[in-house]
Amino acid sequence: MDGKNWLKVVIFLCLIAVSTGREFKVKAKNKHHAAIYNHTLATILVEYASAVYVSDLTELFAWTCSRCNGLTKGFQILELIVDVQRCLQAYVGVAQDLNAIVIAFRGTQESSLQNWIEDLYWKQLDISYPGMEDAMVHHGFYSAYHNTSLRPGVLTAVKSAKEFYGDIPIMVTGHSMGGAMAAFCGLDLTVHLGCQNVSVMTFGQPRIGNAAFVSYYRERVPNTIRVTNRHDIVPHLPPYYQYFPHKTYRHFPREVWLYDLGFGSLVYTVEKVCDNSGEDPSCSRSVKGNSVKDHVRYFGVKLSCDVSAGCRIVMGNGLASYHTTDNDGNIIFSRNISSVLRMNVESSEEGKSL
Ligand SMILES: *[C@@H]1O[C@H](CO)[C@@H](O)[C@H](O)[C@H]1NC(C)=O
Ligand SMILES: *[C@@H]1O[C@H](CO)[C@@H](O)[C@H](O)[C@H]1NC(C)=O
Ligand SMILES: *[C@@H]1O[C@H](CO)[C@@H](O)[C@H](O)[C@H]1NC(C)=O
Ligand SMILES: *[C@@H]1O[C@H](CO)[C@@H](O)[C@H](O)[C@H]1NC(C)=O
Repeated sequence: MDGKNWLKVVIFLCLIAVSTGREFKVKAKNKHHAAIYNHTLATILVEYASAVYVSDLTELFAWTCSRCNGLTKGFQILELIVDVQRCLQAYVGVAQDLNAIVIAFRGTQESSLQNWIEDLYWKQLDISYPGMEDAMVHHGFYSAYHNTSLRPGVLTAVKSAKEFYGDIPIMVTGHSMGGAMAAFCGLDLTVHLGCQNVSVMTFGQPRIGNAAFVSYYRERVPNTIRVTNRHDIVPHLPPYYQYFPHKTYRHFPREVWLYDLGFGSLVYTVEKVCDNSGEDPSCSRSVKGNSVKDHVRYFGVKLSCDVSAGCRIVMGNGLASYHTTDNDGNIIFSRNISSVLRMNVESSEEGKSL
């Protein structure tokens, strides 16, 4: 190696040292106020956020889909909700190895992703969050969770899980618009259902409210991590206008930004735990948000549908006994929580006898 290359390597190592040093400092300073980022948990939850895009409802409900096979193995869905008109999907279930209830929301379907992103530039803060003075949010995101069949479906399942397990940890996740809905859901569970142990982790979510909303949100759901990826465009939208602090959209903390560091073949992914402001200028805001490609893959996991054929629903016959349809044609599959436990016992006994 000639002198120049050695220099590059030394600079590179220094950069790594500086960036990891900074992470530790930020974490320690805010230990009691904000979420601690857990990389392992992020790689698990991103698989839940990916699985909710599966359109074969039979495979999804039975948790046999190809995306259900990795770190999320053994998960059992209590409730799968499909809002047919608005093309929304979410589930609630029990993750034994996390010892938690996991709730996941699907984002926008890929065929309309481009349009959806273009629209994001112009979203207004056009509805106030009930009961929180001055807190403004975007109507579309708000009502996708609050004014559809998703909320009642999620609450039913969480209530029965609470009766069964007590205040078990609840982890809410979602990608893109699903991340926006996950945030509204986490807040709802805390404020309206009195859940004590709610954490939220979103991937590539847009901004959803103003500064007043953010200060309510962070107080009530402090255990929130908002993962952003490289040049993903969506976390940059709707735009943040630094010089209009009361009028602009604003992100809540805590961002964790994934980016590449290094030279040539020596590229290394850094996970930067950002400051507690929500709008850390040295995280994703330090680069141009111009990539759709960086939006649909986080931690190497695909976050979009397999078929880009819009809102397609595939359903086999095996689901009839779990299946109800409401007056608007929305579909809900539910499983009785006591049968979830029974099935576990059966499957472990089978495992033993083999
Ligand atoms: C991170 O999360 C994983 C999966 O839930 C858990 O096993 C591990 O103990 C956590 N690590 C820390 C430091 O909390
Ligand atoms: C909820 O949806 C209904 C119809 O779907 C609509 O008439 C109503 O205005 C919506 N409410 C809010 C607060 O968005
Ligand atoms: C949340 O759940 C964890 C793990 O079960 C538990 O250690 C913790 O005490 C719970 N916190 C609250 C406030 O219930
Ligand atoms: C679930 O099953 C238990 C025991 O079989 C039964 O007592 C309970 O009513 C069922 N709950 C629902 C909501 O169907």
